[in-house]
Amino acid sequence: MQKGNYPTKWWKLAGIASQTVDNLAKHPSILEAAAMIRQDQVVAFPTETVYGLAANALSDSASEQIFVAKGRPADNPLIVHIERRQTVDEFVDNIPKQAVKLMETFWPGPLTIILPAATHVSSVVTAHLSTVALRMPDHVLALAFLRACQLPLAAPSANRSGKPSPTTAEHVWHDLQGRIAGILDGGPTGIGVESTVIDMSTSVPTICRPGGISIEQLQHVLGDVSIDPAITEGVHPSLVGQTSVSRATPRSPGVKYGHYSPEGEMWLSTGESTAVMRKKIAEHMLLRLSEGYRCGVLTTDEGLDYFQGQLVHLPFKDQMRVSIVSAGDAQDLEGIARQLYAVLRQFDVVESQYIFAETFPERGMGAALMNRLRKAASGNVL
Ligand code: TXA
Ligand code: MG
Repeated sequence: MQKGNYPTKWWKLAGIASQTVDNLAKHPSILEAAAMIRQDQVVAFPTETVYGLAANALSDSASEQIFVAKGRPADNPLIVHIERRQTVDEFVDNIPKQAVKLMETFWPGPLTIILPAATHVSSVVTAHLSTVALRMPDHVLALAFLRACQLPLAAPSANRSGKPSPTTAEHVWHDLQGRIAGILDGGPTGIGVESTVIDMSTSVPTICRPGGISIEQLQHVLGDVSIDPAITEGVHPSLVGQTSVSRATPRSPGVKYGHYSPEGEMWLSTGESTAVMRKKIAEHMLLRLSEGYRCGVLTTDEGLDYFQGQLVHLPFKDQMRVSIVSAGDAQDLEGIARQLYAVLRQFDVVESQYIFAETFPERGMGAALMNRLRKAASGNVL
């Protein structure tokens, strides 16, 4: 594939996403996209979490193009997306009972299950690991696309490596236009953060990445669940040279890479109360403004008045260098997760050089939300 010089097609299908999988699988645009997949090209598609970049998971040369288009490190394995349960048998020899229980409970849905890979599974997809990650997405367009392809699809999130994952076709276009064959546009995605990744290849199931299915939901079904220590931290220390965080090697290779980051330097604010957390942000924001920088603030609907109030006495030209963005209602962590990546990308549009973000309770969707925020901020805390 020629870098940055590919005629990218954009099929707008948002309005028809209420149709059945069967009907949609015969839609001319989906058939055209599926034909491209069978020609070993890569096509972006919506899932219930974020947009993915698909290639035929049975073809090494097709899967390799995903890494080229994204600029993704070759040691970061891909999730195989499937439309029906039987397809798991093509990738895994023995499926543990607990894994079957997870599939029955959460599929189709935002849960990726890691299992020991059968010997023939592509090492491009597994990045030479002995395991393979499988997921059945809960999105009518994704399922219709899989059905039309009649192939399992290897797909990471459809962003340039390191950037926030795309939750709209516009985000995909921004990152990958000219590098991929096409984009199936199903409108904004529903969940907004990626699937939960759980490793079922070991005796105690291990959560490698928090996501759309909460840790509490998994504990309810499985009982004992361990959490990979690497996910509670910022960027893996081996990459940033920090010594203050534990040196655990993450189970999921992708977890060690910087990710989700806006161009500006991002900092998270904590505090014993929301008032303290916001005061810290205001102090840092005013300091950086006085130094001449452009600043962004990630807050909630409840925080908008407070931050706008901090600006009223500043000269207009200073006010113009601040972007205060709400990710939604502070009580609605699902809603904030849905907006998160779009908000992070917004700070790039306005070229914020420093971004200060509020933090959230780590329950339910809050665990995935905080995991992504910590990574976006490379572990920086005010
Ligand atoms: O919601 C999602 O999961 C989206 C949509 C498109 O399905 N996909 C996604 O893929 O987020 P990606 O590649 O951006 O993230 C997949 C994560 C990475 O951290 C990767 O290292 C991990 O899953 N992973 C994949 N295969 C693995 C394996 N065999 N063992 C451990 N981790 C694995
Ligand atoms: Mg990703």
